[in-house]
Amino acid sequence: MTIERTKTILEDLERTLLRFMRKHKITHEEYRRATDVLVATVKAGEESLLYDVFFEAEATDIGKIGRQASAEAVEGPFYLPDAPKLEAPYLLPQRPDEAGDVLFLRGRVTSPDGTPLAGVELDMWQADAAGHYSNIHPNMPEWNLRGRFHSGSDGTFEVRTIVPPPYEIPKGGPTGAVLGALGRHCFRPAHLHLKIRHPEYGELTSQLYFEGGDYLDSDVANAVREGLIARLVRRDHPEELAARGLRKPYFEVRFDFKLVPRHAGDVRRRA
Ligand code: BEZ
Ligand code: FE
Repeated sequence: MTIERTKTILEDLERTLLRFMRKHKITHEEYRRATDVLVATVKAGEESLLYDVFFEAEATDIGKIGRQASAEAVEGPFYLPDAPKLEAPYLLPQRPDEAGDVLFLRGRVTSPDGTPLAGVELDMWQADAAGHYSNIHPNMPEWNLRGRFHSGSDGTFEVRTIVPPPYEIPKGGPTGAVLGALGRHCFRPAHLHLKIRHPEYGELTSQLYFEGGDYLDSDVANAVREGLIARLVRRDHPEELAARGLRKPYFEVRFDFKLVPRHAGDVRRRA
């Protein structure tokens, strides 16, 4: 971001907010109340949460304009870099008795013309069956349900994890208070987070949701996008269970991703 663009945007933000204050005749008491909420989010470690709930989806959509890659979705406040690198066959790190139904996520990563991309890094993170993220919520093993793995020579990948539930974002702090004042609930539909990377292709940050899931139409973060809702297929045939070495029914999701080269086909139309 150039200094010039930063200045243009900051000046317009200032003008927009001043216009907004005059329009609503914001009093000093109301102004102080608003700055107190912002200060409280920092004290509660929620500054990312508040902004990501309200604004990140818009920035993600604007960034997507003109790109031919797969649909994108917000990163959210719970991404952490440097998740463990996994060895094949890939299993997201989990407790020996991890709650939740077993899920195999598989698919293929290609370029826009369908060429399979080998050696793509998939960096995946998700909530556990209680709706909690490791390294964020207390009393969870470090890096639980977070890991990085790769597509094979034919562009395909498969990872074993658990089916995540819909979850409520932390609602006891200032973000919950703001949402409460708006009369909104704090739930996100069940989802898997992924960042997909290849040195020659643009990084893709996305999420996968599940057909028929709760809160798809009322996500508190407004981050569900067409093309990101996958079918969760239940497998319970004895032969399928035996092939997977499992005793209980499990689920499968198949989802393919498209990346666009970093320099070609990534034409951004800026108004
Ligand atoms: C999440 O998916 O974890 C999330 C995304 C945006 C706001 C809050 C949470
Ligand atoms: Fe999430």
